[in-house]
Amino acid sequence: MRDTYKAVEVYESGRLRIVERSISEPGAGQVRIRVEACGICHTDVATVTGTYPGLTLPRVPGHEVVGRIEALGAGVSQWKIGQRVGVGLLGGEDGVCEPCRRGDIVNCQNPVTLGVTVDGGYAEVMIAEARGIASIPDELSSAEAAPLLCAGITTYNALRNAGLRGGDLVGVQGIGGLGHLGIQFARRMGFHTVAIGRGHEKEKLARDLGAHIYIDTAIEDAAAVLQRLGGARAILATGTSGDAMGRLVSCLAARGKLIVVGVPGDQIQLSAFPLVFGGRSIYGSLTGTPVDSEDTLAFSVLENIRPMIETLPLEQAGDAYARMIDGKARFRMVLVTGQ
Ligand SMILES: NC(=O)c1ccc[n+]([C@@H]2O[C@H](COP(=O)([O-])OP(=O)(O)OC[C@H]3O[C@@H](n4cnc5c(N)ncnc54)[C@H](OP(=O)(O)O)[C@@H]3O)[C@@H](O)[C@H]2O)c1
Ligand SMILES: [Zn+2]
Ligand SMILES: [Zn+2]
Repeated sequence: MRDTYKAVEVYESGRLRIVERSISEPGAGQVRIRVEACGICHTDVATVTGTYPGLTLPRVPGHEVVGRIEALGAGVSQWKIGQRVGVGLLGGEDGVCEPCRRGDIVNCQNPVTLGVTVDGGYAEVMIAEARGIASIPDELSSAEAAPLLCAGITTYNALRNAGLRGGDLVGVQGIGGLGHLGIQFARRMGFHTVAIGRGHEKEKLARDLGAHIYIDTAIEDAAAVLQRLGGARAILATGTSGDAMGRLVSCLAARGKLIVVGVPGDQIQLSAFPLVFGGRSIYGSLTGTPVDSEDTLAFSVLENIRPMIETLPLEQAGDAYARMIDGKARFRMVLVTGQ
């Protein structure tokens, strides 16, 4: 076995390069993973541009990682060499901050964050915290499983934790990496599913993914359409425009919820009127824990949900990243290694 591995690192803002690094042994409580696939999430922008708070360069991006364990650090007993596992954005909680002590590890104040505090999965090899990994079911290929570890868990968790009931009218805004999975989860969870996109180009795809209704905001007023249907009980906002997100509040039924999972660079513009008159609310939701990842994977197998992916070899990470940025990916770019 080679004692080096290939990785793609950000060495200055906006610049990726392939480097050869020495393989290191996992420390106590860690495992070394031979990476097979890594999805490209829009959040990787914060690593590539060097803007994620606390980030120092060089850094390897990537937090939708699937591979096989090839080395165990001291004290790791629950995982086995050769086992296929995955890691998402949150690669391990500190266990000592206040949210952790209250059992809310997803909101850990000092988490191991892939592609930010540690190197991520745009690489042939990655070191992960054993407490931060999830088991991958045999029914899913590594390339299919990868996007479920961020785009999947984020939309699945947000929907299942929203207090919704079967048959509720639920919107999914933005039909990209997150949104195309959100539509599938919403449909399979039994909601009356409305996809909210821009332009007609994604209408057929959205319907094929399970949307009962498609609203094209380029030609339709989403609030008028949804209010005619009684208003949405919830809208999962995955888009990267704050301006577009704020307008979604008017699409909600009384007591409806706008669940923010997209993280636009611009401000979300809000009017107080639809919030106050109708008791509507808006809140955010951040990915999930490793066991939530396992739930996401299990539900995807159960309900035959798969991400739509385009794969490229690791060496073409720059091209794959550019396709994501240009909005051309249908719907998730996944880097694969030669394994
Ligand atoms: N909360 C979390 O834990 C979490 C986890 C992962 C990602 N994220 C965030 O979620 C967002 C989406 O990530 P992704 O990987 O799904 O990105 P993506 O695949 O690049 O998709 C971007 C989406 O944004 C929409 N969009 C772009 N400009 C828009 C505009 N002006 N108006 C309305 N919609 C617009 C696109 O909609 P069209 O289909 O109309 O082109 C597309 O659906 C990012 O901000 C990312 O950082 C959050
Ligand atoms: Zn992500
Ligand atoms: Zn913590």
